[in-house]
Amino acid sequence: MESILVSGGMGFIGSNFIHYLLKTHKNYKVINVDYLTYAGNPENLIEFEGFDEKIYKFYKCDICDFNHILKVVKNENIDYIVNFAAETHVDRSIDNPDIFIKTNILGTQSLLNVAKKLKIKKFIQISTDEVYGSLNFKDPAFTEDLPLKPNSPYSASKASADLIVRSYFKTFNLPVNITRCSNNYGPYQFPEKLIPLMINNAMNNQELPIYGTGQNIRDWIFVEDHCEAIFLVLKHGIPGEIYNIGGNSEISNLDLVKNLLLILNKPETLIKFVKDRPGHDLRYAINFKKIKNELSWEPKTNIEDGLKNTVQWYLQNQDWLEHIINEEYLKYYEKMYKYR
Ligand code: NAD
Ligand code: TYD
Repeated sequence: MESILVSGGMGFIGSNFIHYLLKTHKNYKVINVDYLTYAGNPENLIEFEGFDEKIYKFYKCDICDFNHILKVVKNENIDYIVNFAAETHVDRSIDNPDIFIKTNILGTQSLLNVAKKLKIKKFIQISTDEVYGSLNFKDPAFTEDLPLKPNSPYSASKASADLIVRSYFKTFNLPVNITRCSNNYGPYQFPEKLIPLMINNAMNNQELPIYGTGQNIRDWIFVEDHCEAIFLVLKHGIPGEIYNIGGNSEISNLDLVKNLLLILNKPETLIKFVKDRPGHDLRYAINFKKIKNELSWEPKTNIEDGLKNTVQWYLQNQDWLEHIINEEYLKYYEKMYKYR
């Protein structure tokens, strides 16, 4: 049985990836290492607590801690590493970039050093389309060969990590892939991000803060589609290659929020336009022809169904939300929105 180390597996996409692996590909052992920052939530994987340790195991571990990760990777005979662990929220990176540089750049390099030392079969770096920078409304979508032009401390830290990952392939022949995906949505997403934030506020009849004019465009992908693409890249991606992953669903923030209000049967008067995010990227759009042609992948979920499912999930999992929306989060929310 091969084994996959998932870093950041208690976060949004990492936990969805572990659900996907344990339910769909039962012939792998999954080792989850996560430092349990504010974004790491053991409740995301509660159904695997007490699971057979030959199949699934969790270690509380910082990816920056080389010796600890080395020990885990060695003892668990890891074949593959999929690196989700990161600081991920753009607004927090504007407030305080330091931890983004440490975790996203140095943490990734530390993981790469472990992978190199123990000669693992494949290292997958979960990156983002934000490394390409921002598009104008009529620009063609991002392709993998574009230069990197990140605009936020978050995207700059992810772009830096991508370059270090590339260098370990070129210099040390470490088999790597980099995936660059657009904005994810779905179950278990921390409510500081646009979609769960708006769902939660609307459910509680609170204001929905839209930055600037709300005309900024994002491409949205249902998280399960992303997980499927990552697995295909892990198994069949050509070492050294970068794969864009997109949802085929470009929509402005304002239209997206109006759709959520429709689904929730709440009034548009809840919308409040607030001060814009500094350096706010105008538009992201993904050209994913490469993964479609090479690995026969394309997203299965259209945004209408995906949003309905997601709203349904949050309505049915209000306990999950209540546990996350603790004092620390409320303090953060007040700080972030007071000045807007
Ligand atoms: P998230 O913030 O929900 O989860 C991040 C996880 O990493 C948390 O569980 C946290 O505890 C863990 N972590 C943070 N620092 C750590 C450290 N030093 N050591 C070990 N674990 C640590 O993030 P997410 O939305 O699930 O994103 C996962 C990855 O996907 C990130 O690398 C992100 O850049 C990338 N990505 C996210 C999106 C998106 O829309 N959410 C889109 C494209 C790419
Ligand atoms: P976000 O979920 O933070 O993802 P990213 O910045 O990585 O794309 O934000 C998605 C979009 O929604 C982005 O254009 C910023 C905007 N936004 C708001 O308008 N209001 C909010 O409260 C948040 C969190 C985001």
